[in-house]
Amino acid sequence: MTDKDKNPVNSHFEYFLKDMRKHIKVFGVKNLIVDDLNTEDLSKFDGLGNASHIEHVRKALKRTGLGGDLDYLVVRASNGQPIAKGAVDYNSNKGAGTLIQLTTIHELRGLGLGSYIIEKLEDKIRQRGIYTAILGVEVDNQDAKRLYERLGYEEFGSTQESWEETDEYGNPYNYTAHEILMMKELLRLQ
Ligand SMILES: CC(C)(COP(=O)(O)OP(=O)(O)OC[C@H]1O[C@@H](n2cnc3c(N)ncnc32)[C@H](O)[C@@H]1OP(=O)(O)O)[C@@H](O)C(=O)NCCC(=O)NCCS
Repeated sequence: MTDKDKNPVNSHFEYFLKDMRKHIKVFGVKNLIVDDLNTEDLSKFDGLGNASHIEHVRKALKRTGLGGDLDYLVVRASNGQPIAKGAVDYNSNKGAGTLIQLTTIHELRGLGLGSYIIEKLEDKIRQRGIYTAILGVEVDNQDAKRLYERLGYEEFGSTQESWEETDEYGNPYNYTAHEILMMKELLRLQ
Protein backbone atom coordinates (compact mmCIF):
# COMPACT_ATOMS: atom_id res chain seq x y z
CA MET A 1 0.00 0.00 0.00
CA THR A 2 1.36 3.42 -0.90
CA ASP A 3 0.85 6.50 1.27
CA LYS A 4 -1.73 7.70 -1.28
CA ASP A 5 -3.91 4.62 -0.73
CA LYS A 6 -4.03 5.02 3.03
CA ASN A 7 -7.33 5.67 4.73
CA PRO A 8 -7.31 9.51 5.09
CA VAL A 9 -8.70 9.29 8.63
CA ASN A 10 -5.92 6.92 9.69
CA SER A 11 -3.15 8.88 8.00
CA HIS A 12 -4.49 12.08 9.60
CA PHE A 13 -4.18 10.35 12.97
CA GLU A 14 -0.66 9.13 12.11
CA TYR A 15 0.41 12.72 11.29
CA PHE A 16 -1.17 13.91 14.51
CA LEU A 17 0.81 11.31 16.49
CA LYS A 18 4.07 12.23 14.72
CA ASP A 19 3.50 15.91 15.51
CA MET A 20 2.60 15.10 19.08
CA ARG A 21 5.73 13.00 19.52
CA LYS A 22 7.87 15.89 18.25
CA HIS A 23 6.00 18.36 20.46
CA ILE A 24 6.52 16.25 23.60
CA LYS A 25 10.21 15.72 22.77
CA VAL A 26 10.69 19.50 22.59
CA PHE A 27 8.39 20.77 25.34
CA GLY A 28 8.07 17.73 27.64
CA VAL A 29 4.81 16.54 29.15
CA LYS A 30 4.30 19.02 31.98
CA ASN A 31 2.42 21.57 29.83
CA LEU A 32 -0.16 19.01 28.73
CA ILE A 33 -3.64 19.16 30.22
CA VAL A 34 -4.61 16.42 32.66
CA ASP A 35 -8.25 16.27 33.69
CA ASP A 36 -11.15 13.92 34.31
CA LEU A 37 -11.96 11.41 31.61
CA ASN A 38 -15.60 11.61 30.49
CA THR A 39 -17.90 9.39 28.43
CA GLU A 40 -17.60 11.67 25.34
CA ASP A 41 -13.86 10.88 25.31
CA LEU A 42 -14.66 7.22 24.61
CA SER A 43 -15.54 8.07 21.00
CA LYS A 44 -11.97 9.44 20.56
CA PHE A 45 -10.19 6.52 22.15
CA ASP A 46 -8.03 5.52 19.14
CA GLY A 47 -4.96 3.71 20.36
CA LEU A 48 -6.11 3.52 23.99
CA GLY A 49 -7.92 0.18 23.93
CA ASN A 50 -10.12 -2.17 21.94
CA ALA A 51 -13.92 -2.34 22.14
CA SER A 52 -14.00 -4.60 25.18
CA HIS A 53 -11.51 -2.40 27.05
CA ILE A 54 -13.64 0.65 26.24
CA GLU A 55 -16.60 -1.13 27.87
CA HIS A 56 -14.49 -1.70 31.02
CA VAL A 57 -13.60 2.00 31.00
CA ARG A 58 -17.28 2.95 30.54
CA LYS A 59 -18.17 0.82 33.58
CA ALA A 60 -15.38 2.41 35.61
CA LEU A 61 -16.58 5.92 34.67
CA LYS A 62 -19.96 5.16 36.32
CA ARG A 63 -18.10 5.03 39.65
CA THR A 64 -16.52 8.50 39.28
CA GLY A 65 -17.86 11.88 40.38
CA LEU A 66 -19.07 13.20 43.72
CA GLY A 67 -19.16 10.39 46.29
CA GLY A 68 -17.68 7.94 43.76
CA ASP A 69 -15.04 5.38 44.68
CA LEU A 70 -12.93 5.85 41.53
CA ASP A 71 -10.99 8.69 39.88
CA TYR A 72 -10.27 8.51 36.15
CA LEU A 73 -7.71 10.88 34.60
CA VAL A 74 -6.63 11.55 31.05
CA VAL A 75 -3.70 13.41 29.48
CA ARG A 76 -4.87 15.41 26.48
CA ALA A 77 -3.19 16.77 23.36
CA SER A 78 -3.89 20.48 22.70
CA ASN A 79 -6.92 19.51 20.56
CA GLY A 80 -8.40 17.59 23.51
CA GLN A 81 -7.55 14.15 22.10
CA PRO A 82 -6.87 11.64 24.92
CA ILE A 83 -3.29 10.33 24.64
CA ALA A 84 -2.75 8.60 27.99
CA LYS A 85 -5.09 7.52 30.76
CA GLY A 86 -5.33 5.78 34.10
CA ALA A 87 -7.60 5.43 37.10
CA VAL A 88 -7.51 4.95 40.86
CA ASP A 89 -9.90 2.46 42.42
CA TYR A 90 -10.48 3.05 46.16
CA ASN A 91 -12.56 -0.08 46.65
CA SER A 92 -10.35 -2.99 45.70
CA ASN A 93 -7.81 -2.52 48.54
CA LYS A 94 -9.23 -0.81 51.62
CA GLY A 95 -7.07 2.06 52.89
CA ALA A 96 -5.19 2.32 49.59
CA GLY A 97 -5.68 3.71 46.12
CA THR A 98 -5.19 1.04 43.44
CA LEU A 99 -3.92 2.23 40.06
CA ILE A 100 -5.72 0.54 37.18
CA GLN A 101 -6.14 0.74 33.40
CA LEU A 102 -2.91 2.68 32.74
CA THR A 103 -2.34 3.13 29.01
CA THR A 104 -0.38 5.45 26.74
CA ILE A 105 -1.03 5.45 22.99
CA HIS A 106 1.56 3.07 21.54
CA GLU A 107 3.30 5.66 19.33
CA LEU A 108 3.75 8.03 22.29
CA ARG A 109 5.23 5.58 24.79
CA GLY A 110 8.59 6.17 26.39
CA LEU A 111 8.16 9.98 26.49
CA GLY A 112 7.13 10.36 30.12
CA LEU A 113 3.33 10.34 29.72
CA GLY A 114 2.91 7.22 31.88
CA SER A 115 5.05 8.69 34.67
CA TYR A 116 3.14 11.98 34.42
CA ILE A 117 -0.31 10.43 34.76
CA ILE A 118 0.87 8.26 37.66
CA GLU A 119 2.12 11.41 39.43
CA LYS A 120 -1.33 13.00 38.94
CA LEU A 121 -3.14 9.84 40.10
CA GLU A 122 -0.98 9.78 43.23
CA ASP A 123 -2.05 13.42 43.86
CA LYS A 124 -5.69 12.26 43.63
CA ILE A 125 -5.01 9.55 46.22
CA ARG A 126 -3.45 12.08 48.62
CA GLN A 127 -6.41 14.42 48.15
CA ARG A 128 -8.57 11.70 49.73
CA GLY A 129 -6.22 11.55 52.74
CA ILE A 130 -4.81 8.18 51.65
CA TYR A 131 -1.06 7.63 51.49
CA THR A 132 -0.70 4.14 50.01
CA ALA A 133 -0.77 3.38 46.29
CA ILE A 134 -1.02 -0.19 44.98
CA LEU A 135 -0.93 -1.63 41.49
CA GLY A 136 -0.82 -5.00 39.79
CA VAL A 137 1.44 -5.66 36.82
CA GLU A 138 1.35 -8.82 34.74
CA VAL A 139 4.39 -11.04 35.32
CA ASP A 140 5.45 -10.83 31.67
CA ASN A 141 5.19 -7.00 31.56
CA GLN A 142 8.74 -6.42 32.78
CA ASP A 143 9.10 -3.03 31.02
CA ALA A 144 6.12 -1.63 32.91
CA LYS A 145 7.39 -3.21 36.16
CA ARG A 146 10.72 -1.42 35.70
CA LEU A 147 8.89 1.87 35.24
CA TYR A 148 6.94 1.36 38.49
CA GLU A 149 10.15 0.46 40.34
CA ARG A 150 11.75 3.65 39.04
CA LEU A 151 8.75 5.57 40.44
CA GLY A 152 9.23 3.98 43.87
CA TYR A 153 6.86 0.99 43.79
CA GLU A 154 8.00 -2.21 45.53
CA GLU A 155 6.82 -5.76 45.04
CA PHE A 156 4.82 -7.22 47.96
CA GLY A 157 2.88 -10.19 46.60
CA SER A 158 1.07 -11.69 43.67
CA THR A 159 -2.49 -12.32 42.57
CA GLN A 160 -4.63 -13.66 39.76
CA GLU A 161 -7.31 -11.50 38.15
CA SER A 162 -9.88 -12.67 35.60
CA TRP A 163 -12.16 -10.62 33.40
CA GLU A 164 -14.13 -10.95 30.22
CA GLU A 165 -12.44 -9.99 26.94
CA THR A 166 -13.70 -10.16 23.36
CA ASP A 167 -11.68 -11.77 20.59
CA GLU A 168 -11.23 -10.31 17.08
CA TYR A 169 -14.48 -12.00 15.95
CA GLY A 170 -16.48 -10.49 18.79
CA ASN A 171 -16.65 -13.73 20.84
CA PRO A 172 -16.33 -13.27 24.61
CA TYR A 173 -13.72 -15.24 26.53
CA ASN A 174 -12.36 -15.20 30.06
CA TYR A 175 -8.86 -13.72 30.41
CA THR A 176 -6.75 -14.56 33.45
CA ALA A 177 -3.85 -12.29 34.36
CA HIS A 178 -1.06 -13.40 36.72
CA GLU A 179 0.00 -10.22 38.41
CA ILE A 180 2.78 -9.00 40.67
CA LEU A 181 1.42 -6.63 43.33
CA MET A 182 3.42 -3.46 43.98
CA MET A 183 3.04 -0.78 46.63
CA LYS A 184 4.32 2.73 47.33
CA GLU A 185 3.99 4.86 50.44
CA LEU A 186 3.14 8.35 49.21
CA LEU A 187 4.87 11.38 50.65
CA ARG A 188 2.60 13.75 52.59
CA LEU A 189 3.05 17.05 50.76
CA GLN A 190 2.92 20.24 52.86
C1 LIG B 1 3.13 1.03 30.83
C2 LIG B 1 2.78 2.33 30.08
C3 LIG B 1 1.46 2.90 30.60
C4 LIG B 1 3.91 3.33 30.34
O1 LIG B 1 3.59 4.52 29.68
P1 LIG B 1 4.72 5.46 29.02
O2 LIG B 1 4.02 6.69 28.59
O3 LIG B 1 5.51 4.71 28.04
O4 LIG B 1 5.61 5.73 30.32
P2 LIG B 1 6.92 6.62 30.49
O5 LIG B 1 7.30 7.21 29.18
O6 LIG B 1 6.71 7.51 31.65
O7 LIG B 1 7.97 5.57 30.95
C5 LIG B 1 8.55 4.72 30.01
C6 LIG B 1 9.00 3.52 30.73
O8 LIG B 1 7.98 2.53 30.61
C7 LIG B 1 8.54 1.38 30.05
N1 LIG B 1 7.63 0.82 29.07
C8 LIG B 1 6.77 -0.19 29.35
N2 LIG B 1 6.15 -0.55 28.25
C9 LIG B 1 6.61 0.26 27.24
C10 LIG B 1 6.35 0.34 25.84
N3 LIG B 1 5.50 -0.51 25.27
N4 LIG B 1 6.99 1.31 25.10
C11 LIG B 1 7.86 2.16 25.68
N5 LIG B 1 8.14 2.11 27.00
C12 LIG B 1 7.52 1.16 27.76
C13 LIG B 1 9.83 1.76 29.38
O9 LIG B 1 10.70 0.67 29.47
C14 LIG B 1 10.27 2.96 30.16
O10 LIG B 1 11.04 2.55 31.22
P3 LIG B 1 12.55 3.00 31.31
O11 LIG B 1 12.50 4.51 31.33
O12 LIG B 1 13.02 2.40 32.58
O13 LIG B 1 13.17 2.46 30.08
C15 LIG B 1 2.71 2.10 28.54
O14 LIG B 1 3.87 1.50 28.11
C16 LIG B 1 1.52 1.26 28.08
O15 LIG B 1 0.45 1.80 27.79
N6 LIG B 1 1.72 -0.05 27.97
C17 LIG B 1 0.66 -0.96 27.50
C18 LIG B 1 -0.41 -1.14 28.55
C19 LIG B 1 0.20 -1.59 29.87
O16 LIG B 1 1.04 -2.46 29.91
N7 LIG B 1 -0.28 -0.94 30.95
C20 LIG B 1 0.22 -1.19 32.28
C21 LIG B 1 -0.59 -2.19 32.95
S1 LIG B 1 0.03 -2.49 34.61
